[in-house]
Amino acid sequence: MSADTLPLRRIDHVRFFVGNARQSAYFYRNAFGFDVVAYEGLETGVKHEAGYVLRQGHITFVLTSSLRANDPDNMRLIFHGDGVKDIAFEVEDVKYSFDYAVSHGAIGVTPPTKLNDDFGTYEYATIRAYGDTTHSFINRDHYQGVFAPGFKPIDPERYSRSTFRPVGLKAIDHIVANVEEGKMEEWVRWYEHVLGFRQLVHFDDKDISTEYTALMSKVMQNGTGRIKFPINEPAKSKRRSQIDEYLQFYGGPGVQHIALATGNIIETVRAMRANDVSFLRVPQTYYEMLPQRVGPINEDLRELAELGILVDRDDEGYLLQIFTKPVEDRPTLFFEVIERHGSRSFGKGNFKALFEAIEREQALRGTL
Ligand code: FE2
Repeated sequence: MSADTLPLRRIDHVRFFVGNARQSAYFYRNAFGFDVVAYEGLETGVKHEAGYVLRQGHITFVLTSSLRANDPDNMRLIFHGDGVKDIAFEVEDVKYSFDYAVSHGAIGVTPPTKLNDDFGTYEYATIRAYGDTTHSFINRDHYQGVFAPGFKPIDPERYSRSTFRPVGLKAIDHIVANVEEGKMEEWVRWYEHVLGFRQLVHFDDKDISTEYTALMSKVMQNGTGRIKFPINEPAKSKRRSQIDEYLQFYGGPGVQHIALATGNIIETVRAMRANDVSFLRVPQTYYEMLPQRVGPINEDLRELAELGILVDRDDEGYLLQIFTKPVEDRPTLFFEVIERHGSRSFGKGNFKALFEAIEREQALRGTL
């Protein structure tokens, strides 16, 4: 058993760069049930960007938009549209983490930097990952503020506590990257060398293919096993795969989906549907074959079928999962809601039904 060479405590937050953070915050609050807890912008003395910190359970999202016409980050919107800019890890030692990563091949973006305000010292550093995505190392052990210097608690006039309705999302289960054909192995090695991750599981195109599309995937996890990053690449297929479609519309590699864990997927999905979140649908025949495929489960099959929730079983237990449609007009980032009952896998048994559902959506977009 090797030591955890680069100890990462947890995913601290996921930072999105979006065209209009104010409106995105409204969407994630009212559709996904996040609480808006902090804000940065002109009113807090921040001149270059507006940012909103959203929280539900242990999940923190930061939505940022530029306030300047000539901000180089605005090019992100032209190339990618809205998407994930940074996945930040909480670490004990920012300098050690950054130095370790850079000495093992990472490209530094921001060297270890301390920001101070009345609430203490917040430290961070950033490295490049796939595409225009970055990873930050952050530490706020000596910081008592609401999030980071520049941010203030959200004005209660702006978002009333009385209208905040969480949907039961608790934690980030995994975050999936799409990379170009032939690049998966390179990024697998990058996560091994730079961040001390190891490979958990591997799916090839025989596991993940339909008549039209194929992809390959490897799941990387950190030393504690708490952080899981599957990495997909497209495989040769008859038609354009969903990964190719993503790469085209995102203009390169990036985050494909974020899986959010819930303790009660039926209640969570019911609430999200009531908030007009659109989910992928599999045909009714999926549920006819389900009892035979997964055996006994605690949930009512009719309820799962009504909501379109998928089930898969492995040696350790079972899982329930469902996927939203893309949350932008570009067919790029989407979300997964997952409830685990012992299973630590990713729903391999659902890949075929799921990809056929995605292909039906691609056909509607004319991108299959
Ligand atoms: Fe997933």
